[in-house]
Amino acid sequence: MKLSNRMNSIINFLETCGTIADIGTDHGFIPLEIINRGLAKKVIATDISANSLKKTEELVAEYGLEDSIETRVGDGLTVIGENEVDTIIIAGMGGILISEIIGGFIELAKNTKLILQPMTAEAELKRYLVNNNFRIIDEYLCLDGKKFYQTIYVEYGESKKDYDIYISPFWKKDSIYYNYLKNMVGKYKIIVNGLKISDKDGRLEENEKLLKIYEEALYEG
Ligand SMILES: C[S@@+](CC[C@H](N)C(=O)[O-])C[C@H]1O[C@@H](n2cnc3c(N)ncnc32)[C@H](O)[C@@H]1O
Repeated sequence: MKLSNRMNSIINFLETCGTIADIGTDHGFIPLEIINRGLAKKVIATDISANSLKKTEELVAEYGLEDSIETRVGDGLTVIGENEVDTIIIAGMGGILISEIIGGFIELAKNTKLILQPMTAEAELKRYLVNNNFRIIDEYLCLDGKKFYQTIYVEYGESKKDYDIYISPFWKKDSIYYNYLKNMVGKYKIIVNGLKISDKDGRLEENEKLLKIYEEALYEG
């Protein structure tokens, strides 16, 4: 199976380990690829929706991987036991939801590596991690179709409180990086121009600051 760039950027972070939990697995492509590449002995594939998890169950049956991929229906980390997994993947959800999932079971999360790929609110998730002593070990930027995704590799430990949650020090200054910055400058220009016309919630200043952050990074090179 050919994985999307986005999903590949999760798999590329993985070091070979014993058991991985894939929280919010949905289609099950990530667990399947992990087992096919021999990156873990076992994957616990979970989803809050039994209907979503059915797709994974069908895939597991199709490939005869019942011994390597276990499925569990449940909310976030409620279905994972203490010390049961080495690594937790949470991808394809908003950054705020991801931080709530981690925050709900913080002791469990502290004892594992976390690979996170938020669809939205990336900076908010990173702020949460840094404020709660999760150390960002590495970050990767990828482009899939027309959308940019951030993959964040995290471990528990003393975090740098001045960690740049907007412009990661780990991003390679390559073409994706410059295209990402151009995209963010374009996005915040539109938002700021709109807020200059009408700013009922007082969000102009905050968005002007974000525009400046991305413009400075882009023009610094
Ligand atoms: C867009 S899919 C992402 C699938 C896969 N992780 C990926 O990155 O391609 C999001 C999945 O997360 C599940 N989900 C949402 N909230 C959840 C929660 N609190 N706990 C577990 N799964 C959740 C949804 O049911 C859905 O199947």
